[in-house]
Amino acid sequence: MSIATASPEQRAAELEARIRQAPDRFRVMTGDRPTGSLHLGHYFGTLHNRVRLQELGVDVFVIIADYQVLTDRDVADRLGEYMEGMLLDYLAIGIDPARSTVFNHSAVPALNQLMLPFLSLVSVAELNRNPTVKDEIAHSRQSAVSGLMFTYPVHQAADILFCKGNLVPVGQDQLPHLEVTRMVARRFNERYGAVFPEPDALLSDAPLLLGTDGTKMSKSRGNSIALGADADETARLIKGAKTDAERYITYDPENRPGVASLVLLAALCLGREPHAVAEEIGGGGAAVLKRTVTEAVNSRMAPVRARRAEYARDMGYVRSVLRDGNERANEIAAATLEEVRGVMGGGL
Ligand code: TRP
Repeated sequence: MSIATASPEQRAAELEARIRQAPDRFRVMTGDRPTGSLHLGHYFGTLHNRVRLQELGVDVFVIIADYQVLTDRDVADRLGEYMEGMLLDYLAIGIDPARSTVFNHSAVPALNQLMLPFLSLVSVAELNRNPTVKDEIAHSRQSAVSGLMFTYPVHQAADILFCKGNLVPVGQDQLPHLEVTRMVARRFNERYGAVFPEPDALLSDAPLLLGTDGTKMSKSRGNSIALGADADETARLIKGAKTDAERYITYDPENRPGVASLVLLAALCLGREPHAVAEEIGGGGAAVLKRTVTEAVNSRMAPVRARRAEYARDMGYVRSVLRDGNERANEIAAATLEEVRGVMGGGL
């Protein structure tokens, strides 16, 4: 079957098979905005998968998307602190700097320069249609929409294409951005000659974890359990989590989102089915549910937290990981920019 006509599930399965067959043909490109601490939603949604791909032998690039912080806020607050926190998280979960490359936007000028030719390949109408950008504009705290908010999907195309990434593990919300990347690659190749791959999305099948307030777990909403949280903080956060008045615990995401999300979190940590976990708790009610979740999170995350604390004692090393990653990213970006200028010609 052609990969273009398959359903998302078939596509994912086919990609997985191809990755296993020839991991060295893939370059994964993914990343995070440093707007807060990475949390359990990130861990089960994407972080875990990056390490899995790394272990399969795929070349993994992780961008700390610092310029992208400015899409929906005026200044990048506490940027250094968040970036160091992310580096610690990546190392703690098992990203291995000897095999994977961690870098940040603002340290790689040639990557950013690619944005200019890329911007020339998309129309304002196309930028205007991006549903994720529309949604972010609707939720933005800013009174005016900045040009960066409008164009950052093209910047993200530069993130992916500078290193010729061909596999992008993403959640549903990032799919429109990947379409922009594919369009930019296709049009660039048509206009100037074949330089870029058209990357595939590797859609995460992880179910959505809600925050402790029953809405989407988010870095900046104060409703998340950070990877770096300790056992006591975890217990406190889960104790305060929203449940409901019904005593008997069931797994019913539609009608009981708060309870279901706690059940799901326990199930993910224990590697079990959420229905089985709910059934076992049953009449134990919210108190037993919360105790179960707290124990499950704390025991699952204990090794990650221990490694995180260990790395935190050697911040010199942690910073050197980013320095080395940036050096590699700069070499690759410079080579790609050189190639781009070569095919574009005329001194551009
Ligand atoms: N926009 C992504 C997010 O908010 C972060 C990101 C920046 C990214 N550049 C990327 C993801 C390139 C994948 C590829 O999560």
